[in-house]
Amino acid sequence: MPKATLLLTGGLGYIGSHTAVALAAAGYDFVILDNGSNASVGVLQGLQKIIGISPEFIRADVRDAQVLRDLFAHRKFEGIIHFAGLKSVGESCEKPAEYWDNNVIGSLTLVREALNAGIKKIVFSSSATVYDASNISPLREDAKLGTSNPYGTTKLVVEKLLEDFARSQGLQVVSLRYFNPIGAHESGWIGEKPSGIPANLFPYVMDVATGKREKVSIFGDDWPTPDGTGVRDYIHVMDLAEGHIAAWEALSSGKLKTHQDFETSCNNESRRGTNVASSCNQEGLFFACNLGTGCGTSVRELIEVSREVTGHLIPAIITSRRPGDVAAVWANVSLAQTIFGWTAKRKLRQAVEDGWRFKSQQT
Ligand code: WQD
Repeated sequence: MPKATLLLTGGLGYIGSHTAVALAAAGYDFVILDNGSNASVGVLQGLQKIIGISPEFIRADVRDAQVLRDLFAHRKFEGIIHFAGLKSVGESCEKPAEYWDNNVIGSLTLVREALNAGIKKIVFSSSATVYDASNISPLREDAKLGTSNPYGTTKLVVEKLLEDFARSQGLQVVSLRYFNPIGAHESGWIGEKPSGIPANLFPYVMDVATGKREKVSIFGDDWPTPDGTGVRDYIHVMDLAEGHIAAWEALSSGKLKTHQDFETSCNNESRRGTNVASSCNQEGLFFACNLGTGCGTSVRELIEVSREVTGHLIPAIITSRRPGDVAAVWANVSLAQTIFGWTAKRKLRQAVEDGWRFKSQQT
């Protein structure tokens, strides 16, 4: 008997597919709804090899209200993990309308149809990009919010949308703010496959390791960091996936709904602040939480570990800083530990090893 049946929107994507593996391992049933725009159906084959069954998959877009209405009329879901959305910072600057349509209109359509069907629990795929660039790391959930690109803005707007529905419609939301997911499931059957030129560091480094690309450009070595290169919080994608299970179990168990416990734990964490990281009223709830390792790794360090793991030279040159970049971003992860009992377990090297295994099996 499954623990619950969840809807995974965008479940063929990088984080969604790894969360599907973690859900199966934890005894959950799930249905994947994905428009296939950023994932191949090869992911379904990979999932079948890992979990032993072919996941139930609906090729649809979360902006299609009728599809959602029909689905919810015929299937009972205890909740939704909402991954569906576009996620490239650079692309969002070129195509803001697509990002607002997919990420914001898609989320509004999903929430409206879910509430109409009586589905009130949602775990949302948010991002550390909602934090203002002026913050000093490690970042807490009540740090100043602010965005500098349409991608980050749509994530922040959807958080605000969800908070409004929590306050007025009784929606119960956990918003998970990802830092920098990297790596792949240990089997190598699923992993990160960006279309086109990778915008993010790790997949680009893997392309250089395979010889697909010539060299890595290090965007500045004059940052105020220990070795002058950018510092980020790289979290193994399977740790991130397991963080979703922990978040769902805290939400579905009613733990987060116990207003007093929740307030106490928040106060203990002294998280009350101007940017409300959490707000509870009656049955509605909005709770934002970081998912990271709590450790910062520099560009040079990640390239060096990748050289050791792959055995390839991975040439790198120093170039100018990338517009919009900041020196250092990493998470304060104490809230996830206190409230969900979750911490990242896997080390950076394992993420590189698992990511390299996936990459090697792809070429
Ligand atoms: C990491 C570091 C760069 C590429 C992303 C996006 C988004 C978010 C995760 C979910 C920085 C440097 C990069 C390269 C480099 N995910 N770099 N050469 O900038 O933290 O942003 O965070 O929301 O995907 O917001 O990740 O991998 O692009 O950059 O030197 O070719 O690597 O300057 O210091 P970032 P990133």
